Amino acid sequence: MVVPAEHALHEAIQVSPLILSDDVRRQKIENCVAKMRLSAVTARKIQDVFISEMNKGIHQQPSSLQMENTYIPELLNGTEEGLYLALDLGGTNFRVLLLELAHGAPIRQEVKQYYIGSELRVGSAIPLFDYLAECVSDFVISQGLQNVELPLGFTFSFPMIQHSLDVGVLVTWTKTFNCPDAVNKDAVRLLREALDRRGDTKVKVLAVLNDTTGTLVQGSTLDHNTAIGLVLGTGSNACYLERADRVEHWETERHGESEVIIDIEWGAFGDNGVLDFIKTDFDRENDANSLIVNSFTFEKYIAGKYLGEVVRVILAKLTKQRLLFVGDSTSDSLLTTGNLTTDLVSHIEQDSLDGGDSNTKEILEKFGIIPDEDDIRIVQYVCEVASNRAALLVSICLASLLDRIDKEQVTIAVDGSLYKHHPRLEGWMKQYISLLCTPGRKFKLIHAEDGSGKGAALVSAIAHRLKKRLQ
Ligand code: GLC
Repeated sequence: MVVPAEHALHEAIQVSPLILSDDVRRQKIENCVAKMRLSAVTARKIQDVFISEMNKGIHQQPSSLQMENTYIPELLNGTEEGLYLALDLGGTNFRVLLLELAHGAPIRQEVKQYYIGSELRVGSAIPLFDYLAECVSDFVISQGLQNVELPLGFTFSFPMIQHSLDVGVLVTWTKTFNCPDAVNKDAVRLLREALDRRGDTKVKVLAVLNDTTGTLVQGSTLDHNTAIGLVLGTGSNACYLERADRVEHWETERHGESEVIIDIEWGAFGDNGVLDFIKTDFDRENDANSLIVNSFTFEKYIAGKYLGEVVRVILAKLTKQRLLFVGDSTSDSLLTTGNLTTDLVSHIEQDSLDGGDSNTKEILEKFGIIPDEDDIRIVQYVCEVASNRAALLVSICLASLLDRIDKEQVTIAVDGSLYKHHPRLEGWMKQYISLLCTPGRKFKLIHAEDGSGKGAALVSAIAHRLKKRLQ
């Protein structure tokens, strides 16, 4: 028997119907992407698996969820003052920031963005960290602060094993980075050594964190109910405030903490095979085309680095099966890995939302394709199916987290290019989360702009305060 909540979920996750002049063609296309469409029953099954993986991870049992202790036991308390630096590595942009705080709130911010070329992203550790240190010096000197002792929070948005607030051992690279000799090394140590080699500033690295943690902390300055930090950008991940007594991995001395931020690292969800029941051939091909294969299974279903590629792989298959662009000699460029970036999916989704086709046409024309009406509908349909699956998967995890946190009102602070630019994710997520969590839970999604940058400076202020208290 279908219970009402499941029925509502079933209804909510339907995508717009594909309407084509040729019904046989429509049916073939729908069949081809059918496995991308998750049912309400499958959604619940994923939710059960996620909850079970979270429990195993927090109890230090084998799990695809790392549930890493960040050693951040409290948020800002309004006493933080002075100048704090942040270094933000791992997302679309690499930046150095300076934040001036008064009464725990930012009153001034300076930011400089730097470019990291692919030879540094995919090379060895020393040149990469030397470059990071060079950018820190350049920034600090340009601010005239080379002789001032400055606490720095290092946002290093990759899976780490944290031994303390300022020790983060890299587990694996993800997204667009791969410098194999940095794996198993402490990112803070690599940065400190690079800063020491230069010796031209007085920067003190006090904390290493992940972008989701920065987002949670930044969000908490906007809304004090913030208990989850979510990043939906190049990669995807979330962290949340966990009860300290539930956390088993705790290497430093405890000081009666009641909560601590846990970095879930949900990008790796399913790396142990627990999610294989939703894997499609498109996902297998997307993985095979990625920088580090057989890792970060879940991230490859949902994040900005991959969503465009999933769509491209589907479109390429439909084209080869002569179900798409039939009347046009398709340019090879759409058949080439990496050529359809996620921002284009967002533009096409905007058309679907508006009932228009101008973005879709323009994008396809750039690929050398003159689409007919049916081609446009199919491309829009595929973008919607892939985007909708991402929204549902993220919502499943967030709903499970809300139930785990079990507070009367929880705010989810969100940052990341995909969330910001995709026109439909937020709307879908609001709807799906409320249908997937325990009925009646109150939650809010807020945009914590630049959480990964500002949040790191805020975390260094918290670290500075904690350090002084324990001295
Ligand atoms: C990847 C990283 C994770 C980060 C996320 C979002 O999944 O492993 O640490 O939070 O990307 O940038």
